[in-house]
Order: sequence, then C-alpha cells, then structure tokens
Amino acid sequence: MTYRIAPSLLSADFAKLGEEVAHVIASGADWIHFDVMDNHYVPNLTIGPLVCEAIRPCTTAPIDVHLMVKPVDRIVPDFAKAGANIITFHPEGSEHVDRTLGLIRDSGCQAGLVFNPATPLTWMDHVMDKLDVVLLMSVNPGYGGQSFIPGTLDKLREARAKIDAYAQKTGRRILLEVDGGVKVDNIAEIARAGADTFVAGSAVFGAGKDSDPQRYNSVMASLRSALAGV
Ligand code: DX5
Ligand code: ZN
Repeated sequence: MTYRIAPSLLSADFAKLGEEVAHVIASGADWIHFDVMDNHYVPNLTIGPLVCEAIRPCTTAPIDVHLMVKPVDRIVPDFAKAGANIITFHPEGSEHVDRTLGLIRDSGCQAGLVFNPATPLTWMDHVMDKLDVVLLMSVNPGYGGQSFIPGTLDKLREARAKIDAYAQKTGRRILLEVDGGVKVDNIAEIARAGADTFVAGSAVFGAGKDSDPQRYNSVMASLRSALAGV
C-alpha cells in the first residue's frame, strides 16, 4: 500500500504561503491540500483560484483542491487553469453530480466526491467510472483543528469495500482520502480502516518553531513512521 500525506494549507501561515508550500513538500509531503470555502456552502471564507495560481510555481507536487462551495461548476475551469491537479466537491453543492465530475475531468484534472459525516456513501454508486478520489470528511467541513469523528472508521471500511470490489471488476483504482482531525496518534488506525491518502492541517502546520525552515521534518517523519507500522 502506498500512502499519501496531504497537508492542508488552511492551517499554514497565509502571509508566507509560498514558503510554507516549499517547506512542507521538502519535509516529505506528497500533495498540497487546498481548502476552498465560500461562506455559503460552509460558514467560512478562504482562498480561490488566484491563490492557487500564485502557489503553483512553488512546487511540482499535486495540488488537491477541496471545493466547499455551492454552486460548483462555474469555478471548476478557473481552478484547472490555475494549476489544480485534483478537484473534489460535495454532492450537496452540485445539482448534477455526474455532469460536474465530467466537467472536472474534461478540464484535465482528476475528480473526486467528498462525503460529509452525514452524507451516505450511496452517492458514489452510479458514478464510480468518473471517480478518481473518494474523500471522507472526518469532521464537519468549515474549520481546521476539529476532532476526528470516530464513526468515520466504519464508513472508511465500507468505502474501502466498495472501492476494492470496483477495482476487482475493472482494474481501476480509486483513492480513498480522509480529511479532518488526522494526527500522529490516530493515523495508523485510520489507515487500517482503509484510507490511503491523509489530509492533515493543524497536525502538520501547528508543528515546530516558526523560524526553523526544517520545522515540518519531525511531524512528517512521525506520520510516516506511524503509517509504516500498519
Ligand atoms: C475542513 C477542511 C480540512 C481542514 C483539516 O473543512 O476541509 O482540510 O483543514 O484540518 P485539521 O487537520 O486541522 O482537522
Ligand atoms: Zn479539506
């Protein structure tokens, strides 16, 4: 099993975003998780395509854009042009989920659906062929620094079974990502429940002293060694 760690910029220093991206990738992060909130679908407001475009030259690592917006379609081509590699959205944010997945893929990005804690996994059943990523929220979307909701572990096992059954039938592998409250002390258990891609915001960007360019080395190494023990 290959695991990916995707630090969420939501907890980074917004006054030094480019530097934060470079440092966290140098410390071994695989993806950059980019949280887009619109003060409509979720009660918070963050960053958009202009900021994505601004950080794009800072890394060659994939930028994983998590859209917490409603509506979704209008903004998809803007993120594709801004250099996004993966775009995920919440089914509640789109009137036509299949069409939105197609739009993301036609824009040249990988596409994914995001499941809130109360959103049933059945949303994925009829669109498996258009999914590259399934993202389970382990907190309610809108803020960083919340606690992992334990019921996500059973939901991960359920999603893993669906994804594996689909892979057996088609040979196509869909990634299973988890977002919210992922820390050094629970990442192994989350991996054992079936996740292969881990968003971690406060756990990563909260670590170390501000002035030390290597400040993310030790937390990234701890996350990796927890995963190595799975
Ligand atoms: C929440 C965001 C998450 C958040 C995770 O709505 O989607 O990506 O930044 O932050 P932590 O890891 O602190 O829970
Ligand atoms: Zn997110």
